[in-house]
Amino acid sequence: MSQDKLKEAVAWAALHYIYPGAIVGIGSGSTVMYFIEALNTIKHKIDGSVSSSKESTIRLKDLSIPIFDPNEVDKVDVYVDSADEINSQMQMIKGGGGALTSEKIIAAMSKKFICIVDSSKQVDILGRFPLPIEVIPMARTYVARKLIQLGGLPEYRQNIITDNGNIILDVHNLLIYDPIKMEKTINNLPGVVTVGLFAIQMADVVLISTINGIKTVVK
Ligand code: 5RP
Repeated sequence: MSQDKLKEAVAWAALHYIYPGAIVGIGSGSTVMYFIEALNTIKHKIDGSVSSSKESTIRLKDLSIPIFDPNEVDKVDVYVDSADEINSQMQMIKGGGGALTSEKIIAAMSKKFICIVDSSKQVDILGRFPLPIEVIPMARTYVARKLIQLGGLPEYRQNIITDNGNIILDVHNLLIYDPIKMEKTINNLPGVVTVGLFAIQMADVVLISTINGIKTVVK
């Protein structure tokens, strides 16, 4: 089965967690695009959605799925998003698409985070996927130097300005043995807006698409 088919299958499996009247948080990326297609089939049952990226918003609007500004809602019932890597503690690297700050905000607002991945995203130790960090432009070289001191090799993501007007550093060669400590350390660097480590708040449910079907892991 192709990776795309695995993504599609797991995206449809996430519908099981969406209930009538729910406000659904929508992540970003190709797996989430399949989820939006699936959500379209039950859009009249939900109250609406909250979107984490311009791309997801465009697709939600195309399908006339109602969208709320995050400031208009007091909570999000279920957040559905994918990841670039996930470990057995349900901690993740996210931000390959550059929308990590909005994703973290919506994840924090949500009662339940459902992570939908294909099995290629599972790792023992986070960090083979370069860790994305959103940084205020004037802090770029300062933060990069600090990341080198932490053992990483930061690379400036060229020609990308985030939805918040910032830049992204992708950190290579950083094997993350203590994700919570690393998330706190990087979060504390002046100029860092968001680190794409989702370890302090991990997923509540992980749906993993395999050639033998969908595996569910619950916190
Ligand atoms: C975007 C993300 C995505 O969830 C992650 O990049 C996975 O993307 P895809 O579903 O395309 O494999 O964190 O910022």
